[in-house]
Amino acid sequence: MWIFSRRGFLLAGPLAVAGMALAPRLQFPALASEPGLTPPQTEGPFYPDSLPDDRDNDLLRIADEEGHAKGESLELAGTLTDPEGQPFADCLLEIWQADAAGRYHHSEDRAEGARDPAFQGYGTTRTDSEGRYSFRTIRPVPYGSRTPHIHFKVHHPDGQVLTTQMYVADEQLNESDWLYNRLSPEEQALVTVSLQPFEEDEEAAWTGHFPIVLPRRA
Ligand SMILES: [Fe+2]
Repeated sequence: MWIFSRRGFLLAGPLAVAGMALAPRLQFPALASEPGLTPPQTEGPFYPDSLPDDRDNDLLRIADEEGHAKGESLELAGTLTDPEGQPFADCLLEIWQADAAGRYHHSEDRAEGARDPAFQGYGTTRTDSEGRYSFRTIRPVPYGSRTPHIHFKVHHPDGQVLTTQMYVADEQLNESDWLYNRLSPEEQALVTVSLQPFEEDEEAAWTGHFPIVLPRRA
């Protein structure tokens, strides 16, 4: 597993995703927006219909294969907490997104263009004891009418699942994206990340921080 630090990504413990129970394709309206909570968004049609063998949190490389994903690298880190900032430890996070050509690893994605076989397209990780998580992926790109985004599925400690999408600040298509604009300005702020040039790691072009806030229930 890769853990984000100011110096980049550090190898931090065994891969813990093999054999885990993955992502029921459910949404729970009970998590619908309350002030300060990360708002849910639709799962969309491209949650992987077959999960890759390599499901770690480095989407730029696929285990035992040559090559490196096309696109601009992104080191994305964040936290999973309740509204008081108390962390949720050891929670499963899944992400999936289109490759640099705007293609998903999904049999129903019939857009034109070749998929990038070196992009993992889907990854998982677990939060550490302080609720932190990290992924190494590509800066999301637009496809069709959609503004750049990364899909998230967060497995809540009480068993519920939050499905949402992370957006990138200052992307021109944010103004017209129909899903993004279903959110209030306050909700948009909670799922919009300002990406910064990352100069400490030669491989990374961008870094971003996406805090996710879930309710804490008894
Ligand atoms: Fe999408």
